[in-house]
Amino acid sequence: MRYRRMIAVCGFAVLMAGSLGMVSASANGTHPVKPQDQTLRTLAARHNLAIGTAVDAAAFADAADPQYKSTVVSQFSTITAENAMKWESLEPTRGTYNWAPADALVNAALRNHQQVRGHVLTWHSQLPGWLTAGINDGSISGEQLRALLKQHITDVVSHFRGRIWQWDVANESVSDPWETPSSIHLGGNAGSFKQLFADRLGPGYLADVFRWARAADAKALLFYNDYNIESFGDGGPGDKTQFVYNLLKQLRADGVPIDGVGSQGHLSTQYGNYDVFQVADTLKRFTDLGLAVAFTEVDARSLTKNASDPTAAAAGADLNARDQASAYNYHVLLQACLLNRHCLSFTVWGFTDKYSWIPNWFKNPPEGSGCLWDAGYNPKKSLRTVQGDLLAAATAPRIPQTPRR
Ligand code: XIL
Repeated sequence: MRYRRMIAVCGFAVLMAGSLGMVSASANGTHPVKPQDQTLRTLAARHNLAIGTAVDAAAFADAADPQYKSTVVSQFSTITAENAMKWESLEPTRGTYNWAPADALVNAALRNHQQVRGHVLTWHSQLPGWLTAGINDGSISGEQLRALLKQHITDVVSHFRGRIWQWDVANESVSDPWETPSSIHLGGNAGSFKQLFADRLGPGYLADVFRWARAADAKALLFYNDYNIESFGDGGPGDKTQFVYNLLKQLRADGVPIDGVGSQGHLSTQYGNYDVFQVADTLKRFTDLGLAVAFTEVDARSLTKNASDPTAAAAGADLNARDQASAYNYHVLLQACLLNRHCLSFTVWGFTDKYSWIPNWFKNPPEGSGCLWDAGYNPKKSLRTVQGDLLAAATAPRIPQTPRR
C-alpha cells in the first residue's frame, strides 16, 4: 500500500519539477539562486532527508585546507566519523580511552546543527592491537572477549549518549556474496576476525550487542550495517541480502531492539548497475519489517586505468563513460531512498576524491574517482545528479522511527 502511494507521489514529482523552474528565490527574494548553487542540505531538507558524509578528522582539522571543513559544514546535515569512533581509535591502550578526536567531531557537528551517525560498535576490523593479539595468542578467552565487547559498547554508547542519532551497532557481520552458504561464521580468509567473533561469542551475539547498546541509550536508533545488500539476488543460500533479511526478521521477531538497516552503498562502475526498482524493492522489504533504512557509506568508484591499455591512465571516452556511470549509481540509490519515506538518511563515504579511501583500498585493479567532488573540489556529474534528484522529487517527508525498547 505504502509503496503504491509512493509511486503516485513520484509521478507528481515530475510535474512539480517543471513548476519549480530553473531558479529559486534567495532568502531576501530579490536575487535568483541557481539550483546548482543550493547546498545539498538545503535541497534535502524539503524531504526532511538527512544528507551526510563521512568525515576525515585530520582533514577537518587541517587549517591549510579550509575548504574541506567549510564543505562539511555547509553541504551536509549529518556526519559520520570515518575512523575516529572505531575501537582501535577509542581504546588504543587497554582500559585507556582517547575520546578527544571523536568528541571534537561530534561537538562540531552539534554546533553546526548536524546529526551524528555513530560508527561503529561491533566490527571485526580496526580492532585495537592489544585485542587482536590477545585473541590470537589465546590470552583473551571467548568469555573474556564477550565481557570486553559488552564493556566497550556500554562505555562508548554511554559516553556519547544524547549526541548520537543512529548507531551502527553491528557492521559487516555476514559473509560475502561469493561465499556460499551465507553465514555469520564465514568471511574473508580462514582465521579472519569476522569468523573469530562469531565463533567465540556464540550465535546469539548479534542479539546481545543490540541489547547492550539499548541499555546504554534509550533514544538512539540502532542499526545493522552492511555492504552488498542494495538488491536481492536469487533468494538462494548464497544470496547475502536474503540472509541479512532473514537474520533481521528473526531478530525483530525475538524482540531485539533493532531499529534500522544501513546499506553501505559502496558501488563500482566496473560491475554494472542496479536499476532504481531493484533497490527500491529491497528497501521496501526491509521497511515492511518495521525497520527504518539508510544509505550509510555511498560512493561509486571506477577503474582508473585505460580500458585498452592498462598501463595508461583512463582518458577521453573511458573517463566520460565512467563519470556518467558513477553519477547513475548515485542516482539509483538516492531515488530509491527518496521513494521510501522510511529511508532516513543518505550518507556518502567522503565527498571529495582528495581524501577518499578508495585508491588506498581498491588497488588491484586500481580504482578511484568515487566521490561527488573531484580532488580539486570541482563538482562532478554525480554531484549535479544528486542535486537535480533532490530538487526534482516531490516533497516526501521522512517518517521518523521510534526507538524500539
Ligand atoms: C574505511 C575508512 O574509510 C578507511 O580510512 C580505513 O582505513 C578503513 O575503513 N566499511 C566501513 C567503513 O564500515 O568503516 C570503512 O571505512 C569502509 C568500509
